[in-house]
Amino acid sequence: MSRTHPPRRRLGRRPVVIAGAFAGACALTMGTLSTAAADEDVDTLARVDNPYAGAQLYVNPDWSAAATAGGGEVIADQPTAVWLDSRAAITGGSAGSNTMGLREHLDEALAQGADAIQIVTYNLPGRDCAALASNGELGPEEIDVYKTEFIDPINEIVSDPAYAELRIINIVEIDSLPNLITNVGGRETATPACDEMLANGNYVKGVGYNIATLGDNENVYNYIDIGHHGWIGWEDNFQASADLLFEAANAEGATPEDVAGFAANTANYSALKEENFAVDDVIGGQPIRGESSWIDWNNYVDELSFAQDFASVAAPAAGFPEGLGVVIDTSRNGWGGPDRPTGPGPQTSADEYVDGGRYDRRIHLGNWCNQEGAGLGERPTAAPEPYIDAYSWIKPPGESDGSSEEIPNDEGKGFDRMCDPTYEGNPRNQYNPSGALGDAPISGHWFQAQFEELLANAHPPL
Ligand code: BGC
Repeated sequence: MSRTHPPRRRLGRRPVVIAGAFAGACALTMGTLSTAAADEDVDTLARVDNPYAGAQLYVNPDWSAAATAGGGEVIADQPTAVWLDSRAAITGGSAGSNTMGLREHLDEALAQGADAIQIVTYNLPGRDCAALASNGELGPEEIDVYKTEFIDPINEIVSDPAYAELRIINIVEIDSLPNLITNVGGRETATPACDEMLANGNYVKGVGYNIATLGDNENVYNYIDIGHHGWIGWEDNFQASADLLFEAANAEGATPEDVAGFAANTANYSALKEENFAVDDVIGGQPIRGESSWIDWNNYVDELSFAQDFASVAAPAAGFPEGLGVVIDTSRNGWGGPDRPTGPGPQTSADEYVDGGRYDRRIHLGNWCNQEGAGLGERPTAAPEPYIDAYSWIKPPGESDGSSEEIPNDEGKGFDRMCDPTYEGNPRNQYNPSGALGDAPISGHWFQAQFEELLANAHPPL
């Protein structure tokens, strides 16, 4: 893959010192993955196009231990992201079994000799406005708390010169901006909480402040969340999302140069490549798009095509520089196991053709909580396809999306019936059953039964 992007203007940033020992690795600044240059030769101090390229990624020992204890030793050495999902997580670890604070993770990353670490910043005011399972600690108006008690303390740690040689990949505020496109206004899917976050502007301001502040560090790479194809792949949502991201990339002191790329499918289940049908296929003289209830009027049938078009078409049209890449979360979109189709469905109807051939076996594309039948997806890989910076495990496999019944907690997490296997749905999944596994703990906590399914249904198989 060779893609170029315009030179960055990074005025007022601290000078970058290129250590002599690393000087041989400048090929990496073009974003090409050179295996010869992998690991010790990676020039982590130079600003690069793709921070994953040639980099050894940090393995979170907390997750590794949980995966090993859960019977997943074969994958326990895979890199996963560190979620900063509350103010307390900055020093004391996040939900569930995560015990280490950010500084400890960064120190451990240096000890591992890692070139890059992935963090998720996830604590906006009024978080998770279209659902309840990941509601957080900050109320809708607490933007100043977000800035001064969440982003600023993270920045204080991240900007410590001790970590200047680590690339810090920041996955920014999952689902927030997409919610302001689809779950607001006159739409049937609107919620009062998303209307409020659109009206008060605090998602846009929060994302802007996040990327402006952390982006002042030459070694930080910000990736803004774009939902997934089943959500943002619709005509009305696609360009509108890119435009809103661009607005956030110019808010609160941010500039588009603070954006390294986009994050797709984070914590979701959408298949990477559906190989048995394409969106423009025709069955019985009728296009399957619009006829198939699975596809509905979506323009995309999988994450790869969606992510590539977002980066190459929608983002530049919104004003972003050409050539930004996407990180696709492949932690739980493998859909392998004995039920995986081996070829296309019958051409008897659009529904039979699509439903017989699709890998993604959810009941509806809008289902998002602890999906039954899911498996681990592609193992983390740098620069696998044009415009794709990485396949990566952002959602740590084995961590729940939400509890299947009400469980009192002090994390701000609510009970969302999309995590209840008996629920019949809402407008956001067109009133389909939730497809969620039962007996689930609250979001972020270890869910052993789901972990075992993810291992059993991995694709590629383990
Ligand atoms: C939860 C977070 C958790 C993350 C990763 C989210 O759904 O709300 O608390 O850290 O998942 O598992």
